Amino acid sequence: MLLSQKNFEPKDVAESLLGAAGRPFLVNGVARRAEVGNHRDWILPRTPRPETAGLGAEARLILGEAWTRTGQLEHASVAAFARFTLELLAFGAPAELVARASAAMADETAHALSAFSLASVYAGRAIGPEPLPVADAVGACDLDEAIHTTFVEGCIGETVAALEASMARDHTSDRAVRAVLARIAEDEASHAELSFRFLQWALPRTATRPLERLTAVLDAAIERAAREADAAPAQPTIAEQLLAHGVLPEPRRSALRHSALRDVVAPCLHSLRDGHWQNRDLFGRLDSRAERVA
Ligand SMILES: [Fe+2]
Ligand SMILES: [Fe+2]
Repeated sequence: MLLSQKNFEPKDVAESLLGAAGRPFLVNGVARRAEVGNHRDWILPRTPRPETAGLGAEARLILGEAWTRTGQLEHASVAAFARFTLELLAFGAPAELVARASAAMADETAHALSAFSLASVYAGRAIGPEPLPVADAVGACDLDEAIHTTFVEGCIGETVAALEASMARDHTSDRAVRAVLARIAEDEASHAELSFRFLQWALPRTATRPLERLTAVLDAAIERAAREADAAPAQPTIAEQLLAHGVLPEPRRSALRHSALRDVVAPCLHSLRDGHWQNRDLFGRLDSRAERVA
């Protein structure tokens, strides 16, 4: 069952989305992810080795948890792209979109591997995903619902993820972590662009007017992000240490999320509505936004 079949309101979507990072795997309006366990099979053979010698127990614990959460979200993104690929085939989408969606699954798998590998180093034990619950994830492949889900998962989720990763990359002094974040930032920007490209292809093919619904979803997300930016908690005393290993302080993340929605996603949605969206609309705004919030 998909989002609208349960009459999810825009505020519900905003709530489920903003707790996530990257492309969430939404089922019935809720972002799903796998639990984690003591597994070695999601750790890279040549694990990225961050420099942990100067880190205390508290910093290692927080970094292990933060990178585990990133691994869970990246792992869930694989499922989101698997479903998206099936939907593209069901809609008769062009090969260009199908090829990019299946390539994105490989990207997300690589992101999850890197994140679980880093998490395992910081935690000092093997961490990997348990089985992912996928029941009810694929419905009747309705184009309006796919437009809505792609906007929420891809246009919003991956735009925010691209900006977060590029900001974290620029503030990370650890070389191994920086390399992981550099790849994630580049890939998430490409995935966000793919999502807008899908909307550009799909919007003329539906008889309904989904743009009004997308605008309502975005407005609710912007409103919530603004509230969260105002109420962001104070930074812990070890925030600089965490930042050096790729974990952004919550106040910066909140401000960045708000900016990503207002200054990147909203103008791109306007361009789509006006019928002149181009990929440089997204990439140019991502670049200038990343510079301004750095
Ligand atoms: Fe990713
Ligand atoms: Fe992604």
